[in-house]
Amino acid sequence: MVVGPANRQAPEDSSMKNGVFKQYNTEAPKQTQVLPLFSLKHKTAIVSGSGAGIGLQVVHAFAEAGANVAIWYHGNKEALDRAAEVEKKYGVKCKAYRTDVTDYDNIKTTIDEIARDFNGRLDIFVANAGIPWTQGRMIDGELSHYHRVIATDLDSVFYSAKAAGELFRRQCEAGGTSVFSGEKLQNYGYGSFIATSSMSGHIANIPNHQSAYNAAKAGVRHLCQSLAVEWVKFARVNSVSPGYIATEISNFVPPETKAIWRGKIPMGREGEAHELKGAYLYLASDASSYTTGTDIVVDFYVRTRADTALFDERQNGQ
Ligand SMILES: NC(=O)c1ccc[n+]([C@@H]2O[C@H](COP(=O)([O-])OP(=O)(O)OC[C@H]3O[C@@H](n4cnc5c(N)ncnc54)[C@H](OP(=O)(O)O)[C@@H]3O)[C@@H](O)[C@H]2O)c1
Repeated sequence: MVVGPANRQAPEDSSMKNGVFKQYNTEAPKQTQVLPLFSLKHKTAIVSGSGAGIGLQVVHAFAEAGANVAIWYHGNKEALDRAAEVEKKYGVKCKAYRTDVTDYDNIKTTIDEIARDFNGRLDIFVANAGIPWTQGRMIDGELSHYHRVIATDLDSVFYSAKAAGELFRRQCEAGGTSVFSGEKLQNYGYGSFIATSSMSGHIANIPNHQSAYNAAKAGVRHLCQSLAVEWVKFARVNSVSPGYIATEISNFVPPETKAIWRGKIPMGREGEAHELKGAYLYLASDASSYTTGTDIVVDFYVRTRADTALFDERQNGQ
């Protein structure tokens, strides 16, 4: 069932007829040189959960590439200082906004405020905020914790996509002009929505139990793949699935458990947050103009039981 104005033909409906995609639904960028394709000059980006950790490195990547970037934080007020540092270092606009990603109205209002106040546009949204499952065994965990994990890790991505996607669609329908000022948008190339999923959306982690988190992250990945089809006329939608990255999110995990993780990672270490910058910049920029519905796994985690056994044997010197 389609909910919305009945007489309106939205881009979502016009990309296919009778279940067959229309030819030439999209256009390639005019630019062909690789480094300019990675440029985010004139573009506006929002990154949720970016006062520290992975999100902050994504903010640096985008600012280095010339974008104006809004940092979204929730409890970490140091985000305000981080924004000032980014602005000074790269000479772009960067401001921090306190936002609760489990609240749709808060997300929508803040996106509109940023698009209006920055430069009348939104090009990139990274739904990166998330929390871990910290209560171990599923049967013994509290339902309230389950609801908070799903609200923060999955519902928030749906809400962010709904609000950002609406603006991407309006910009496209306005022929690549600002919906606020009517001005032609420079370096416009469709919207780009990126969500941070996880390798936990692909595999079940060992030895820690975190089924709710894993389910949320698998949901994020498939939500993005489904939206990529729905939004093909006006935005690309992709996800990034990092392996273990050294950030505050895993501060609650005992060192012994982290040692077990490292024994299952051929590189023998957690990743650093800045090692993800390239993947996000690729997906945000016109360098990935023919990439949508993709999940980039930034990880080398051993996935099969047989491989895990092999690594366990090596660890035990067998
Ligand atoms: N680190 C890893 O090993 C790893 C691996 C795969 C995927 N991930 C995913 O990567 C993303 C970033 O995590 P990280 O590792 O960089 O850890 P992090 O530094 O703890 O980042 C999580 C962010 O989420 C924000 N957040 C939490 N609840 C929120 C809410 N209700 N509203 C708004 N923001 C909220 C936090 O904001 P405040 O601090 O301001 O409260 C924080 O900035 C998460 O989605 C995580 O699941 C991490």
